[in-house]
Amino acid sequence: MNVKDILLKTLADAGDCYISGQSLADSIGVSRNAVWKAVKSLEAEGYVIESASKGYRLGADSNRLSRELICAGITAAELGSEVIVLDSVDSTNNYAKDIAAQGAAHGTVVTADTQTGGKGRLGRTFVSPAGSGLYMSVIVRPAMSVEDSSMMTTAAACAAAEAVEELCGAPVNIKWVNDLYMNGRKICGILTEASMGLEMNSLDYAVIGIGINVRSADLGDELRSIVTNIQDESGRAVDRNRLCAEIINRLETCLSRIPDRSYLDEYRRRELLTGNRITANVGRESLTATAVGIDDNANLIVRMDDGTERHIGSGEANLCRVIR
Ligand code: BTN
Repeated sequence: MNVKDILLKTLADAGDCYISGQSLADSIGVSRNAVWKAVKSLEAEGYVIESASKGYRLGADSNRLSRELICAGITAAELGSEVIVLDSVDSTNNYAKDIAAQGAAHGTVVTADTQTGGKGRLGRTFVSPAGSGLYMSVIVRPAMSVEDSSMMTTAAACAAAEAVEELCGAPVNIKWVNDLYMNGRKICGILTEASMGLEMNSLDYAVIGIGINVRSADLGDELRSIVTNIQDESGRAVDRNRLCAEIINRLETCLSRIPDRSYLDEYRRRELLTGNRITANVGRESLTATAVGIDDNANLIVRMDDGTERHIGSGEANLCRVIR
C-alpha cells in the first residue's frame, strides 16, 4: 500500500477521533510533509478530511466509495474477504459472475460508483448514476441445499433492510419478493444470479446483486413517482462505505439463518403485501386475491375469492400490486 492508502485506512480505523500529523507520520514511517501531501491528494479524489489543531480525521460526508473504508467496517468472518471497488462497470453482477467463473472466493464483494448497464429483474434496467447509489454484488458458494439457496434473495432483502434502517434511523419495508420500500416508494432492488454445478442438483456459486438509491439523483420522469432514496425519506446522507459494510455483516448472519428459517420472522414483520388485496401475474394468469402471509419457503400465500389458498413462488409471479 502507498502512503495515501495507509493514511486512509488509518483514518478510517480511527473513526471520529482526530490523529495528529506527527503520529500519522510516525506510524506510516514518513515525514509530516508526506502526510500533508497524502491528505491533499485524498481531498483531490473527493474525500473530506477534517483538520484541526489535534490533527486529522475523516469527514462523515466523504461520499467516495473506498475499499479501505468498506473493509474498516466489516466484521463478518467470511463475506467481504475480498472487496473490489470499481469506478464504473457495466454491471457488478456481470463482473462478479466473470470472476466467480474463474474461481473467485466465497465472500468476494464487487462494488462500483456507477453502472452503465445495471440489470434489474425480468430483464429490466437498473438506473445506476454515479455518486448517489450503492451497487454491490456478493459472490457466495453456499454449503446448502438448492432448495435452501433459493431463499438467499429474501435473506438478502432482510439484511439490506436492517442495514439501511440502522444507518438512517427510519423504517424500511420489504415488498415480496425482494424490493425495499420507504414511505411507499422503492429504494432498493435485488437480483440474484446462480450458476449450477456439473453435478445434478448442486449450486456452484450465486451472485447476490443489491442496488440501493442512497442519495437524491435524477432517475428520470418515468421512475420519479415510484422510486425514492434513503436521503429524501430519512433526511440522512448515509455513507455508502458504511452501508456496504453493514450489509455484508448482516448478510452473513441472515444467510446463516436460512436453514432454520429464523430470518423469516423479520422478513414477515417488514413485508408489505400481506393483509392487502393484490393483483399479480402468475405465469400467464392474472389473478386478484388477498395476500395472507409468507410460507416457510418464502412463497407468497394468497386467499382466492372462493376461499382456497395458493402458495406462489417468487419465480412464477411478477407485477404484484396492492389494490388501493
Ligand atoms: C430489481 O429491482 O429488479 C433488481 C435490481 C438489482 C440491481 C443490482 S445493482 C448491483 C447489481 N448489479 C446489477 O446489474 N444489478 C444488481
